[in-house]
Amino acid sequence: MDRAVCLADYEILARKCLQHMAYEYVVGGAADEITLQANRQAFDRIRLEQRVLVDVSKIDTRLTLFGQQLEFPIVLAPTAFHCLIQTEGELATVRGANAAEITLVVSSLANVTIEAIAAEATRPLWFQLYVQPDRGFTRALVQRAEAAGYQTICVTVDTPVFGARNREARAQLKFPTGMEPVNLRGLELQHGTGWIGSGVGDIYSPVLDAALTWKDIEWLRSFVQIPVVLKGITVAEDAEIAVKAGVDGLIVSNHGARNLDTSPATIDTLPRVVATVAGRIPVMMDGGVRRGTDVLKALALGADAVQIGRPYLFGLAVNGSDGVKQVVDILRREFEMAMALTGRTSLAEIDESVLWRDTI
Ligand SMILES: Cc1cc2nc3c(=O)[nH]c(=O)nc-3n(C[C@H](O)[C@H](O)[C@H](O)COP(=O)(O)O)c2cc1C
Repeated sequence: MDRAVCLADYEILARKCLQHMAYEYVVGGAADEITLQANRQAFDRIRLEQRVLVDVSKIDTRLTLFGQQLEFPIVLAPTAFHCLIQTEGELATVRGANAAEITLVVSSLANVTIEAIAAEATRPLWFQLYVQPDRGFTRALVQRAEAAGYQTICVTVDTPVFGARNREARAQLKFPTGMEPVNLRGLELQHGTGWIGSGVGDIYSPVLDAALTWKDIEWLRSFVQIPVVLKGITVAEDAEIAVKAGVDGLIVSNHGARNLDTSPATIDTLPRVVATVAGRIPVMMDGGVRRGTDVLKALALGADAVQIGRPYLFGLAVNGSDGVKQVVDILRREFEMAMALTGRTSLAEIDESVLWRDTI
């Protein structure tokens, strides 16, 4: 194959250009990868209803989220260590995001400083926060992001510890010397410096806080000036607590199936979260979104927008910033096609009636 025409093609090409351990790092899920498969299979089980003889000569995919205008309801999820994929790391990613007119969520574990990424950005950026055991450092990090112009904070709450990353262990994932999460410089790390995997002898990571609770969310809310979104909510009970805690949005996510294996597919848990939230705050989802029809299905089940992780990393591996743009462009066009073929011309027209009744 010389030319990638869909997101799956980028994965095939990326496998050829990435080092084995880097490919395994990106592609892998936790343990037996039951949830990884489920994230995809659950999308495939849902069928769509085609509607005909609707004027779809103009399609509007724009939306407003947290006061920001998005051209289409897709965001680049936070992913760590882009220098493992491409020498320029997050600088290449953000250039691709600029060209594709998409919002990028920058990971706490980026290899480039958040200020340097922001200097390159022409669109609003969001910052993903792993709260650190050192709360003073955490506060300073968030304030750095605010000062650099980031417009939303996504607090990842599904990772007190990382899951059983068997693929990474088999591939002997080791970040090259000097490749580090530069934005965490200055932290006194406990549990060694195996950034992603757990330290030897225990399950804890040096860059995560296993003691994080709802009290810390209240604490964040007390000083963060920009919208605070929780990433990694999957059940109704937590969604209710989150709304009451005053957060501004939720991301239904199982961390790309990298943490708790055998947890359900996110597209299956989304409707319960949406029902509980009942429109009080925006709800996004990620996990297994690979086709424009997946975006449509997620919106039909109540998501305001979706995020993608692995696909843009494969684009980055294959073709640098152009690859990121190509992946986003493909997904965006596919989503427009899916809207046209189901007779929808705006996001407001996408609801459960898009889904073939027997599958929901
Ligand atoms: C290589 C890789 C690194 C990731 N790093 C982070 C991270 O630093 N912070 C975070 O909140 N989520 C991280 N995630 C999870 C993604 O934000 C997202 O939830 C997931 O990739 C979505 O699923 P998808 O890859 O099927 O689209 C990572 C995912 C991958 C694949």
